[in-house]
Amino acid sequence: MTTRPNPSEPAAAAGEVGFDAKLDKRIGDTLKHYPTPRAALLPVLWLCQERYGWISRPVMATVAGKLGESPAYVEGVVTFYTMFRTRPPARFVLQVCRTLSCAVCGGRELIAHLKAKLGVDFGEQTADGLFELQAVECLGACGSAPVVQINDDYYEHLSPEQIDAVLDRLRGKE
Ligand code: FES
Repeated sequence: MTTRPNPSEPAAAAGEVGFDAKLDKRIGDTLKHYPTPRAALLPVLWLCQERYGWISRPVMATVAGKLGESPAYVEGVVTFYTMFRTRPPARFVLQVCRTLSCAVCGGRELIAHLKAKLGVDFGEQTADGLFELQAVECLGACGSAPVVQINDDYYEHLSPEQIDAVLDRLRGKE
């Protein structure tokens, strides 16, 4: 993996996007808290994902340019961490815990129910772009198993009937 920008290939030479002033300022403020721009890469990527919902190649190129890294280095980091998205998310992303406590408290049945109900497997979105199913490991709420995180909210002690009601409510928000 490249560790320094290649001077013969200017970082973010092509395909950059213009960040809005607010994002630019937040990135600038973040950089002040780190000894080197590279050290700030993860928090800067978080800011971008928060702003756009995912991290596209042009966004990676722009980040690379701002931090003096190569686009390849930034892409390597983005694609290494599953927490970063490289494609637009569905309106509602369901992160379903499949770790032991949830699995033995109805999680397996819940997962089977969700896959059948939504007609998608893990990593897929419904055709209308409304729901996306993701498998995750322990969400840190084992005492409330089984647990599903939908966007930023936790839904706990879920039965298939309860998750159906949640999905209906979310559909109603559209
Ligand atoms: S095992 Fe599911 S939240 Fe911990």
